[in-house]
Amino acid sequence: MFEPRTIIEPFRIKSVEPIRQTTREQRTEALRRAHYNLFQLRASDVLIDLLTDSGTGAMSSRQWAGMMMGDESYAGSDSWFRFRDAVHGITGLEHVIPTHQGRAAERILFGAVCNPGDIVPNNTHFDTTRANVEARGATALDIPIAEGREPATHHPFKGNMDLMALERVLADNPGRVPVVMMTVTNNSGGGQPVSLENLRGASAICRRHGVPIFLDACRFAENSWFIREREAGHASESPREIARAMFAEVDGATMSAKKDGMANIGGFLALNDSDLARRCRDNLILTEGFPTYGGLAGYDLEAIAVGLEEALDEDYLRYRVRSVAYLAERLAAAGIPMVTPPGGHALYIDAAAMLPHIAATSYPAWALSCALYVEGGIRSVEIGTVMFGQQPDGTERAAAMELVRLAFPRRVYTQSHVDYLAEVLLYVNDRKDRIGGYRIVNQPPALRHFSAELEPIGGDPATS
Ligand code: F0G
Repeated sequence: MFEPRTIIEPFRIKSVEPIRQTTREQRTEALRRAHYNLFQLRASDVLIDLLTDSGTGAMSSRQWAGMMMGDESYAGSDSWFRFRDAVHGITGLEHVIPTHQGRAAERILFGAVCNPGDIVPNNTHFDTTRANVEARGATALDIPIAEGREPATHHPFKGNMDLMALERVLADNPGRVPVVMMTVTNNSGGGQPVSLENLRGASAICRRHGVPIFLDACRFAENSWFIREREAGHASESPREIARAMFAEVDGATMSAKKDGMANIGGFLALNDSDLARRCRDNLILTEGFPTYGGLAGYDLEAIAVGLEEALDEDYLRYRVRSVAYLAERLAAAGIPMVTPPGGHALYIDAAAMLPHIAATSYPAWALSCALYVEGGIRSVEIGTVMFGQQPDGTERAAAMELVRLAFPRRVYTQSHVDYLAEVLLYVNDRKDRIGGYRIVNQPPALRHFSAELEPIGGDPATS
């Protein structure tokens, strides 16, 4: 019997969007105009956009068809009920509160439970999660396992939480931890999965201390796939069954539907505590919208209801995880250091290891992401000291890791795009000694990576 070895894109293309070739000179000029901040580029100046996998995916024909069914009634629309049933069907969580994206769910949750002086532990906070915790005057505490901070160490579940650290935080701070978060997959730690065993362990500790645990569930489908592939005893379970087992361990979840909701916008907060849900809904009405649309159009709710199911499709998940692993194999063969194993939605290059001649305070990951743009028109994102180094008191501290994330939009690029990416990365790697550091010339007081203005210390943004 024919046993195919090639994992193909499990879709055919019905609608195409041109991407624009530019010259190196044009890109150098565009980057200068953007003050050496890739967030400030015009997207049409980018050839392959791996800035984020958030809201950048291609929707399916079924999603577009669903959008035509959007019921735009202000209250109680059919689209709301389809959305609620899809979320409840997958998560089993009682109360579903739609939001315009993940950070709105975070703001509403932390706004309801966090007070100044509180501590919120997480395997690793994503930047908006951290900012929303800190905006309440609380401390966002990252407690990944040690392997999660070591890019080259191989571990099947590098997203896991350090359960001893969790036990200690809860024991030492009674009454000061309003909620524990678990981010699946652990985006800022390299897109790494959390095992069901670890989630169960964290959940048991939280229950013993009477503290609720919530999932940051943005990439729950990818996490389910990794559990199936890597954790003993789950190989014959469907991603949906595994997802249900994950949600069964928690009291609630925040979700950005721009990731595993396969939609361009949207999110939700889902939880079991009726009193907390009421308080969250009261707040939702003030800032997002009525509880049956939460800042979304009826057609958005439809797109998400369909997308959540499509994200759990086995052929899709196999292709998705394989695309990232394929790029990782090409780069590993050339000796390019990265977080191993590769993550579900993204590959993370270890810029500290690749560019040891640039100190963390001269932003090696930022420098590498600028070089990839100038040489190949690739937009990536720095996850390093520019993103995480700015402290609430205005000082700067080197981030734990200097990573460049190449995030894969869902169902957007094909294998030849990935081959091109590998070619650019190998070219830049051959010339890495010529890449210099950066300095910040202007920055806002928080979340500086979005708008900070920088300049290359040696005056050259790339490798020549
Ligand atoms: N939590 C995680 C783990 C995320 O990755 C994100 C977004 C959010 C929360 C916030 O969701 O954007 O819908 O408000 N991550 C995107 C990224 C932006 O590029 O990784 P949002």
